Amino acid sequence: MDRIKDKVAIVTACTRGIGRAIADRFAEEGAIVYMAVRRMDAGQEIADAHNALGRRVKAVYFDGDILETIEPMVNQVYEAEGRIDILVNNLGGGVKPGNKDIVGSDMEAILKAFEFNTIVTALCAQYAIPHMIAGGGGSIVNISSETAVVPQLTRSWYGIAKTAVNALTEHIAIQYGRQNVRCNAVMPPFTKTDAVKVLPPEFVEQYARAVPMGRVAEPEDMANAALFLASDEASFITGQCLLVNGGYTLPGADYAGSMSGKA
Ligand SMILES: NC(=O)c1ccc[n+]([C@@H]2O[C@H](COP(=O)([O-])OP(=O)(O)OC[C@H]3O[C@@H](n4cnc5c(N)ncnc54)[C@H](OP(=O)(O)O)[C@@H]3O)[C@@H](O)[C@H]2O)c1
Repeated sequence: MDRIKDKVAIVTACTRGIGRAIADRFAEEGAIVYMAVRRMDAGQEIADAHNALGRRVKAVYFDGDILETIEPMVNQVYEAEGRIDILVNNLGGGVKPGNKDIVGSDMEAILKAFEFNTIVTALCAQYAIPHMIAGGGGSIVNISSETAVVPQLTRSWYGIAKTAVNALTEHIAIQYGRQNVRCNAVMPPFTKTDAVKVLPPEFVEQYARAVPMGRVAEPEDMANAALFLASDEASFITGQCLLVNGGYTLPGADYAGSMSGKA
């Protein structure tokens, strides 16, 4: 409890999935949480449920498909609270059908992958950082993806755009460390959210068998990592991109193909 008490935090795209788990966790830990959402009714309903428990959660309008909504969203939070301590750039995904392998992808899908994953993240940071500096510092957590470091056979531009999110994370860390602004990223693996619900159960079981920890990631796993990086407990950690994947990318044990009987 109270690990980020009284910190003003913005979490983008958080009516569902990983963003929702982060907003919930931050609210439980005492932050003043601004849910930056496109469906204000859904955001308000979640905020009301938290506030009924004595927490402090508000909804603020933000649509990741409309870049012009970003600056007013950030400024609205700053005008209301006089500070911004934490920004979680959770918006991402949005893979279009034309996002395939390198040869087969179309330009519209390529540009959208960069806009939705990298540009929106960069703009949220661009508008929030001056407010963080004015308040003596802050912490940015970008929700990247395991695909940033594990190339895929398809959806190339999603992974490449997330690799750019990792690079952005390091650039922010270098450029604003002196002003006490930290920036880190969480790289989720395949995580149980609506975005991946469509996958067949056999795939999910097979994937879980290949993970050293023997299970699929939950949104709460990502929320716990984001909480740590956002909090003062990580006050000397910046420019890091953290895999939260149960050891899936470690070299060595071939759990999926193991004949040892232990997997
Ligand atoms: N799930 C995974 O396996 C996985 C793996 C690696 C990385 N990630 C990354 O984790 C982050 C969250 O993914 P997720 O799986 O939790 O997603 P999700 O379950 O599909 O949730 C999507 C969230 O984004 C919001 N959203 C979608 N389009 C939006 C827009 N244009 N403007 C504002 N909000 C919008 C949705 O709001 P509405 O309710 O209004 O639709 C919802 O709250 C993304 O950056 C994703 O790339 C996820």
